[in-house]
Amino acid sequence: MALSSDPGVTHVLPANTNHLELDRLIMNPEVKVIVCCGSGGVGKTTTAAAMALRAAEAGRKVCVMTIDPAKRLAQSMGLTELDNTPRAVQGIGNLNGGSLDAMMLDMKRTFDEIVVAHAEPERAQAILENPFYQALSSSFAGTQEYMAMEKLGQLRTEAEQTGVWDLIIVDTPPSRSALDFLDAPKRLGSFLDGRMMRLLAAPAKGGGRIAGKIVGAGLGFATGALNKIVGAQVLTDLQTFMASFDTLFGGFRHRAEQTYAQLQAPDTRFIVVAAPEPDALREAAYFVERLGDEDMPLAGLVLNRVTVVPLADLTAEAAIAAADRLAESTEDDHEHQLTEDLLRLHADNINTARRQSQVAKRFHAAHPLVAIGIVPTQSEDIHDLAGLRLVGNLLATEI
Ligand SMILES: Nc1ncnc2c1ncn2[C@@H]1O[C@H](COP(=O)(O)OP(=O)(O)OP(=O)(O)O)[C@@H](O)[C@H]1O
Ligand SMILES: [Mg+2]
Repeated sequence: MALSSDPGVTHVLPANTNHLELDRLIMNPEVKVIVCCGSGGVGKTTTAAAMALRAAEAGRKVCVMTIDPAKRLAQSMGLTELDNTPRAVQGIGNLNGGSLDAMMLDMKRTFDEIVVAHAEPERAQAILENPFYQALSSSFAGTQEYMAMEKLGQLRTEAEQTGVWDLIIVDTPPSRSALDFLDAPKRLGSFLDGRMMRLLAAPAKGGGRIAGKIVGAGLGFATGALNKIVGAQVLTDLQTFMASFDTLFGGFRHRAEQTYAQLQAPDTRFIVVAAPEPDALREAAYFVERLGDEDMPLAGLVLNRVTVVPLADLTAEAAIAAADRLAESTEDDHEHQLTEDLLRLHADNINTARRQSQVAKRFHAAHPLVAIGIVPTQSEDIHDLAGLRLVGNLLATEI
């Protein structure tokens, strides 16, 4: 059975699916922030950059924050330095008065900037030099997600104050789960403000009193024992760090909550990107549900790398039967070998498309209101502005 009567197009989704109206989204002046989420490797960075380029070329003043873009793509957008500063992308068509600035997130630098902005120079210096801080700011799980939110906050403030951008599009860090973006900052905040850290940091504030309590609570710890386990220097570093941070922010958790809350602003929309595969769509479904719980408006799902089959009228079964016939009749003929291979490839593609369509339809059935945009798999990576333009076009087109 063929999936479609239109040559070259696979009907991945039922006819009643809401199509993601990309141009309406990116041209809506009330939408000022778009966040692209999704599990690892599905096309978040590509989608964010493609939407940003399309919006800019349609006349909006856009800033796109990318995270770890592939090298060639970064170069094509003029992103050669990891310096946290949005810079004008060359080569965009700005006939409509739009502009595109792009940056790559430098998480450590973002963290440093927060410290510098909030602390007296001497204290800031002490924090920046603190080994515990250095480890936390450059490698701790969740720091990248948290810093992406922090940076978004900064960009938003700059946009409001200077009017230099009217749309900010943010990519999110590579992570196994789309939910990590929403969860990591809270996790980081609770870790830093958590019981264990309080206990470790306690002697800096409470001296022996809290250490006594620990022993009293029967935990079997004393500061001396902790010193042995964690190392005296680390403990001192940590204590100093926590004490400084508490004075700066009144607790890390508090700051993380504020940062998180900006994602609930009414001018913010989410796009969830997924591959047409069970795992990615399951992740996307969790994410969609979570956004609903948190009152964070979802603009839609981008189904990326969808297999679109030319000559979809030729069924997999018919293609395999024809290939088998060729194999039987002409064993040593190279030209026929090529035809046979193509027929088998076609059958594979049809089967892939069929599987993709099944998982996509299952998602649609569970979340019928979610608007969906489709980007077919391209024959090569998206590594330049032309590729991004194409992706933007495809995404804006209903298929
Ligand atoms: N529709 C497509 N057709 C062909 N290649 C694509 C398509 N979409 C993305 N790619 C390529 O797939 C790779 C991964 O895409 P991208 O970097 O956008 O994913 P990501 O979700 O940002 O990944 P990560 O989670 O690692 O950040 C890139 O090389 C990109 O060029
Ligand atoms: Mg990425």
